[in-house]
Amino acid sequence: MQPLFIVFEGIDGAGTTTQCNRLCERLRDAGHEIVQTREPGGTEAGEKIRALLLDPAFACLDHRAELLLYAACRRQLVAQILQPALSGHKPVISDRYTCSSLAYQGIARGLGLPLVRQINAVATAGLDADLTIFLDLDVHTALTRRNKRSGGVEDRMEQAGAGFQARVREGYLELAREHPEKSLLLDAAETEETLSLQVYKALISRFPHFPYRISA
Ligand code: TYD
Repeated sequence: MQPLFIVFEGIDGAGTTTQCNRLCERLRDAGHEIVQTREPGGTEAGEKIRALLLDPAFACLDHRAELLLYAACRRQLVAQILQPALSGHKPVISDRYTCSSLAYQGIARGLGLPLVRQINAVATAGLDADLTIFLDLDVHTALTRRNKRSGGVEDRMEQAGAGFQARVREGYLELAREHPEKSLLLDAAETEETLSLQVYKALISRFPHFPYRISA
């Protein structure tokens, strides 16, 4: 049995953090030891880089510099947390991973998918998610949810605006279509509870031994 590596992706406000928390809680309640992580961040060094990336004071950050900072976070996470967890037979659930860079930097910022794939390859050394769960939500609903949560205070990425978020959403839809065997696309307009049940049912039906899979 191999531990699974599952990732949640979506535009800002789609609910990746909430659904990641709910899934981990459900698995822990069932007695599984789960490694829960997030990007950007997830390590001490990564959390410092996260603070810089989300700080509106750095509005002028160059797009390639931004890409490399996300990749630096990812590299540290892979080396320090993901590889040891998976080789120690612990399943991993992450709030965001490589598809965030593809959608935000590659598509929405316009850096292109080939460049981002190269950088992702350096950061991950080939460690891919077994399944990426794309939480799809329209930009307006996502903004309303974010405003409710933060009282209208936006981080540097959120300040890029609705057009930017719309491009990210299109990017995610393209990525989900490109690799259907490794993707699960869900409508995030559902209630928190309904969506978390859909996530769990879909995982069980795809991986009968979830959060593990039979070794190849
Ligand atoms: P997130 O933690 O989801 O923000 P919040 O805590 O406000 O919900 O994500 C931080 C932001 O970073 C989000 O706008 C997506 C962006 N991001 C990228 O642009 N590229 C990446 O590679 C990653 C991992 C995140």
